[in-house]
Amino acid sequence: MIFYELFLQLSCIIVWTSLVSSSPIWDQKNQNLIKSRNYVPKTNTFDLTLKRVTLAPDGFTRSLATINGQYPGPTIEATKGDRIVLNINNELGEPTAIHSHGMFQRGTPWFDGVSGQTQCLIPNNYEFTYDFAVPDQAGTYWYHSHARTQYVNGVVGALIIHDPDDPYLNEYDEEILVILSDYHHVDAEILLKSFLSPASDGNEPVPDNGLINGKNNFNCSQAPPGSTCVDNAGLAKFEFVRNKRYRLRIINTSAFSAFFFSIDKHEMEVIEVEGTYTKRNKIHRLPINVAQRYSVIVTANQPVDNYIMRSEFQKTCMPDGAKNLSVVTAVVHYDGAPEDSTPISAPWKDFLEECIDLKHDTLQPLYDEKLPEATKEMELTIAFHNNSMGVVIAFLNESSYEPDVNFPTLARIFAGQADNLPKSRNAFTFDTVGEVVDITFINTDEGDHPFHMHGHQFWVLGSGNGTKVDKGALNTVDPIKRDTSTIPASGWTVFRFVPDNPGVFGIHCHMICIWHLQAGLLMQLIEFPEEIKKLDPPQAWVDLCNLQS
Ligand SMILES: *[C@@H]1O[C@H](CO)[C@@H](O)[C@H](O)[C@H]1NC(C)=O
Ligand SMILES: *[C@@H]1O[C@H](CO)[C@@H](O)[C@H](O)[C@H]1NC(C)=O
Ligand SMILES: *[C@@H]1O[C@H](CO)[C@@H](O)[C@H](O)[C@H]1NC(C)=O
Ligand SMILES: *[C@@H]1O[C@H](CO)[C@@H](O)[C@H](O)[C@H]1NC(C)=O
Ligand SMILES: *[C@@H]1O[C@H](CO)[C@@H](O)[C@H](O)[C@H]1NC(C)=O
Ligand SMILES: *[C@@H]1O[C@H](CO)[C@@H](O)[C@H](O)[C@H]1NC(C)=O
Repeated sequence: MIFYELFLQLSCIIVWTSLVSSSPIWDQKNQNLIKSRNYVPKTNTFDLTLKRVTLAPDGFTRSLATINGQYPGPTIEATKGDRIVLNINNELGEPTAIHSHGMFQRGTPWFDGVSGQTQCLIPNNYEFTYDFAVPDQAGTYWYHSHARTQYVNGVVGALIIHDPDDPYLNEYDEEILVILSDYHHVDAEILLKSFLSPASDGNEPVPDNGLINGKNNFNCSQAPPGSTCVDNAGLAKFEFVRNKRYRLRIINTSAFSAFFFSIDKHEMEVIEVEGTYTKRNKIHRLPINVAQRYSVIVTANQPVDNYIMRSEFQKTCMPDGAKNLSVVTAVVHYDGAPEDSTPISAPWKDFLEECIDLKHDTLQPLYDEKLPEATKEMELTIAFHNNSMGVVIAFLNESSYEPDVNFPTLARIFAGQADNLPKSRNAFTFDTVGEVVDITFINTDEGDHPFHMHGHQFWVLGSGNGTKVDKGALNTVDPIKRDTSTIPASGWTVFRFVPDNPGVFGIHCHMICIWHLQAGLLMQLIEFPEEIKKLDPPQAWVDLCNLQS
């Protein structure tokens, strides 16, 4: 059981630590940003109760771990400059931690919500409040449990930060949220147990279905005998008015599956990726990997009718068992079109290579930015192989991440006990002001891995096939800045980032990574430990660790 717990925490994380000089450069920057506009910040409070509820999103009845009884959970909305307060009431029957994915958490590293890294778990039947500001970021984000497999069991929701300075504000009339997900009929803890057994040979659990905004149909003749299941549970429906322009915020909350997203006969123009505005580039099919988010503008310029919205599984990067999965669909209904007619299928046919991110030629930053020169280079190799028990787990430079859930890295720093962390903590400390770091990941695995960095965005300088980085192919002129990027199968990716955020932040594989995270693929960045010690964590956060024994 102990090994099981450890593996759960392992697969996909890297943690870093960085140190900041005594002058709070980050505060200064934020202050300037806030002063630059006329918005009066407010505090947005959300009461979120985590509890088990029996639901049937696609007609198949199962118990889900929900937020306020909903799946996906309620959407958290705020405006750049605001505070976000999340009052978590844990009634799940097991401990939890809630991560707000993509939030920088400057000055509040204890609210990043990662068990073993930034906090002790919130026990069952306990309340805990996350309280952080979003002074300098806006865009499409999400929040989810960062404990065990709870997010695969349902603890996810969208987190949207509106931007009073949005350069595209006058170029769309309305916003629409589209949450894409893969979906399992079996509890994720059972799936994880089987994934982390020798029998799986490292093959990730294959989803039973996919959902758009928590809905889809399922063919119940494929459900196991004795299940409670109804056919034609219903598709999500999006209402369009002809000639209106919509900003679709698309979030992939999958555990494993990447998708191609499209709407029949409608073009889309990408304008945002994970909080970075992009030039308006037209596409027909959008590749979106686990944990990634995009905004696109879609104009309702087609004849009044019903159209199919599709989220196609990218099966090349999934185990063979995924072959039978169908395209996940929803309906785009124009005002005035018949309510119940089946749309004619007219999929876009553009070829897209599977299992890699949207190419840079359609993903250019809107604003010019002078890229700082790298002062430090790091290289890490991702590998999956059997451990001594015959279980396939993940390694970064032959070290599989193992957290100490009862004494998280951040708490250790406050206690002055963060020197000489065990190798399996995969911790790297950054304590030089002005440092700019290039991290090269060499992926020797046959699967692609979406990597997410906490507390930061990073520039994606390039990626490619093989184990040798083509330095000449790196883009240091106008690379995109984001927080989740796919490292191709048997390939490499170079990230550049600036350690400037005192705290402990993970870099980890997300998708499978929930599976792989649970299998060791994580590193911790410890940034400016001496600055961290000058911060004043709330007593409620300290208390969480006192409750554990
Ligand atoms: C459901 O699956 C069964 C068995 O695979 C098949 O015969 C049937 O046509 C399917 N029904 C629908 C509505 O696709
Ligand atoms: C979501 O991300 C997962 C993991 O990378 C990926 O397999 C899946 O295809 C993505 N879904 C979409 C719709 O892109
Ligand atoms: C796919 O569906 C076919 C027909 O229903 C079935 O025989 C086969 O076992 C399925 N394959 C997988 C990998 O589930
Ligand atoms: C990881 O291993 C490679 C190859 O042995 C080595 O060059 C590199 O320095 C290691 N990375 C770190 C961060 O130790
Ligand atoms: C891992 O071990 C299993 C059996 O214990 C074996 O069948 C498999 O080939 C091994 N895989 C690797 C990658 O070594
Ligand atoms: C990487 O390899 C894949 C599969 O062999 C190929 O389709 C793709 O074009 C290659 N990409 C690059 C950048 O060479």
